[in-house]
Amino acid sequence: DVGSDFVVVANRLPVDMVTGEDGEPEWRRSPGGLVSALEPVLRNNSGGWVGWPGQADTDVAPFVEDGLELHPVPLDSDDYERYYEGFSNGTLWPLYHDLAVKPEYHREWWESYVDVNRRFAEATAKTAATGGTVWVQDYQLQLVPRMLRTLRPDLTIGFFLHIPFPPVELFMQLPWRRAVVEGMLGADLIGFQLPGGADNFMILARKLLGLPTSRGYIRPLARHGSITHEGRTVRVGAFPISIDSSRIDRLARSRAVRDRAAEIRRQLGDPGVIMLGVDRLDYTKGIDMRLRAIGELLEEGRLDPSDTVMVQLATPSRERVEQYAIMRRSIEEQVGRINGEYGEVGSTMVHYMHRPVGREELTAFFVAADVMLVTPLRDGMNLVAKEYVASKVRLDGALVLSEFAGAASELKQAYLVNPHDIDGVKNAMTAAVSQDRETGRRRMRALRRQVLAHDVDRWARMFLDVLRSTSAQEPQ
Ligand code: G6P
Repeated sequence: DVGSDFVVVANRLPVDMVTGEDGEPEWRRSPGGLVSALEPVLRNNSGGWVGWPGQADTDVAPFVEDGLELHPVPLDSDDYERYYEGFSNGTLWPLYHDLAVKPEYHREWWESYVDVNRRFAEATAKTAATGGTVWVQDYQLQLVPRMLRTLRPDLTIGFFLHIPFPPVELFMQLPWRRAVVEGMLGADLIGFQLPGGADNFMILARKLLGLPTSRGYIRPLARHGSITHEGRTVRVGAFPISIDSSRIDRLARSRAVRDRAAEIRRQLGDPGVIMLGVDRLDYTKGIDMRLRAIGELLEEGRLDPSDTVMVQLATPSRERVEQYAIMRRSIEEQVGRINGEYGEVGSTMVHYMHRPVGREELTAFFVAADVMLVTPLRDGMNLVAKEYVASKVRLDGALVLSEFAGAASELKQAYLVNPHDIDGVKNAMTAAVSQDRETGRRRMRALRRQVLAHDVDRWARMFLDVLRSTSAQEPQ
């Protein structure tokens, strides 16, 4: 067995094993932006994917699914609780998202994180061909680059963080901060969504580890940094991730999706305005803020309940983590309250669905929606915002977008809002609802130009080009 020249390593495989209605296991596409971005990349680069099959206590042999070569790493229920729910999503997730809730620091969680990262590194070491390229993904696997380099010094290793990298003063709370930074420094190239994250990391390398850093220029990146660590040069840069824009554009133009979009509008009672939210149910997404804004606008008579509906699609996520359960209750209570006040028999104000929605159906919702609400308190990028834009082939619709989503630095013609400023959010919503047709078209055309020109292939190509040129170049 010669192994793969190109290997993606991520906490999840692109498909999740779920138990079907007949009690038999089946595979379903995994939730989240990481998978939607990387799946097309791997298809174009043929290689392997190392990840967890999405269910605790299941051990599956490597297999090929839909042309992708998948290498499952099993997690038992202790790993699931401590590494996944615990350290990844109870410690790092809130710490990296501006302390949206209070991160918890537990030594058993950390030990499990180290242990699982080691198993991912070992599985990858077995999978990658001599001299191959490995691309490690996201906050769940920050120790893998260093562990893998020790096991396999012949590999070229990239690391990309999909979520924000926090300011130094927040990161310094982490009792295991040194090990995390050193873990990432095992890579040849460390990528962040935005220049701010890359800057935060450079400052940290200098302050925490006393490492020499420098800045320079490297094509195709405008700006990058280099850190010297254990005699190696580690490059650092910003690579804003994106979507398979033309695929979504095509899907939105298809007969099936257009028919379904028209049907959705009819099923909603042909309202004047359809507002839409699409999120994993997560406290960072600002779903509660958005509902509060709608509630107030209705109360003040600035939204007409007989002519407006809101659809909130919420993908279940990390449901046993306490803060997620709290958030879910609060959202469901708000939906209930708004519907109790403003709904009528046969016409509901907020249509709320707590379940995963397939690609085609989702695109039909995007096509149907007049106003898309993307209001996270903090978000690495937010690909839903880009997907909405890619779906608006008729240049209709308006995007209300949080300044605190990475996507805001590219989608400048959206109605940008500070989600903490509820009056500002309300004003942006009413402006989006009542925009005149020409303004709307002009904004959407500009948004689409950006999203279609900067797709996920370009993102991957930029990262991999820089990664593969790193060993050859010296810092400037
Ligand atoms: C975010 C993270 C991904 C993660 C996804 C889904 O997009 O950056 O790493 O896979 O959420 O979350 P989950 O915990 O269900 O994998």
